[in-house]
Amino acid sequence: MRTVTVPVLPPVAVRADGQFGIYLHVPFCASRCGYCDFNTYTPAELAGAAETPAGSTPAGWLAGLGRELELAANLLATAPGGPRRVDTVFVGGGTPSLLGADGLAAALDAVRANFTLAGDAEVTTEANPESTSPQFFAGILDAGYTRVSLGMQSSAPGVLALLDRVHSAGRAPEAAREARRAGFEHVNLDLIYGTPGETDDDLARSVDAAVATGVDHVSAYALVVEDGTALARRVRRGEMPAVDSDVLAARYELLDARLSGAGLHWYEVSNWSRDGGACRHNLGYWNGGQWWGAGPGAHGHLGALRWWNIKHPNAYAEALDGGALPVAGFEELGAQEAHVEEVLLRVRLRDGLPVSLLDGAERSRAETAVADGLLTRAGDRLVLTDRGRLLADGVVRDILG
Ligand SMILES: C[S@@+](CC[C@H](N)C(=O)[O-])C[C@H]1O[C@@H](n2cnc3c(N)ncnc32)[C@H](O)[C@@H]1O
Ligand code: SF4
Repeated sequence: MRTVTVPVLPPVAVRADGQFGIYLHVPFCASRCGYCDFNTYTPAELAGAAETPAGSTPAGWLAGLGRELELAANLLATAPGGPRRVDTVFVGGGTPSLLGADGLAAALDAVRANFTLAGDAEVTTEANPESTSPQFFAGILDAGYTRVSLGMQSSAPGVLALLDRVHSAGRAPEAAREARRAGFEHVNLDLIYGTPGETDDDLARSVDAAVATGVDHVSAYALVVEDGTALARRVRRGEMPAVDSDVLAARYELLDARLSGAGLHWYEVSNWSRDGGACRHNLGYWNGGQWWGAGPGAHGHLGALRWWNIKHPNAYAEALDGGALPVAGFEELGAQEAHVEEVLLRVRLRDGLPVSLLDGAERSRAETAVADGLLTRAGDRLVLTDRGRLLADGVVRDILG
């Protein structure tokens, strides 16, 4: 057997404060959407690279995951500040629902076998509408999942076709209803806006269809044309216009008005929820929480340490077969890098950026943004205005100088 050489994580001190989460990455999709550059593999892509078949099947992935979580728990048990109780679990992909309810139950069991979950832990899985059913939702609820996040993207058939989505326009709202009927209080629908050819009406109907299901959370992302994707090649060949930033701004305003009119309020620039519906796991990322990322290509963050796993499922499995954590690389964040990241993430939250985090020069640049109508003061915090949300990245650059 060939064993990959992996870097060894340096000793890490775990912070005792804030949230601790576990992210599990499922690297499988039935087919690839043309816009997506996430670390995921179709059966055809894995067949061509099946040097070590172990990691390329759901069963092999699950075996590797169990080994990684065991190594993680051992590392945390001896680290200063560790071990930590798990506040949130998030299974993302890829397409976690391809594992079925039994596979997702086994993944959560692997977490429970190695970590202690808080009694009120939030346990989310992403799911693709076409690989769900009432039985699937009943099964994962029974297994201990508390939240489901479904990729809807749009309810316009033309937009879905352009995005290479394989589900019908009605299937995502139907799946959200099934999840709610199964007993899930917390259900999210993901939307993508600004797809070339999408009209204002298409987006308005998509938002209305999402809201009508009664979900308590909607995430909406501007379409990003990622390098190396089929979508980028189509744009480069002139088969499709590039995404227009003025259109994106107008669409964001439309989304926000419709969602807040329906009782879903923004709590992060791309996320809206009803009261009590915010995703605690993602809030952990944005509020400087710590997490272990398990699975191919997953990223983790403990103390000042960041690391990322080997991306390919076979190489990931191979490293674990050799007894090592499947780490591809790591970095230790200096104080300045950590500060930049904190400003970048926290300014995007409705709770805002505590002024106390900023130094004198940053505070005076933030005051300029307040005078320009991009930020507003809420007590000791700075919160993006409606216009500021459209220009969030620029506001961060302005503050940091
Ligand atoms: C990586 S997917 C995983 C969920 C699931 N596989 C699905 O597609 O429904 C998570 C979400 O990221 C968003 N996303 C992925 N690539 C994107 C891109 N290039 N631009 C905007 N949103 C994107 C989509 O809304 C998607 O639902
Ligand atoms: S189904 Fe989700 S993860 Fe898979 S390719 Fe499409 S957007 Fe990416």
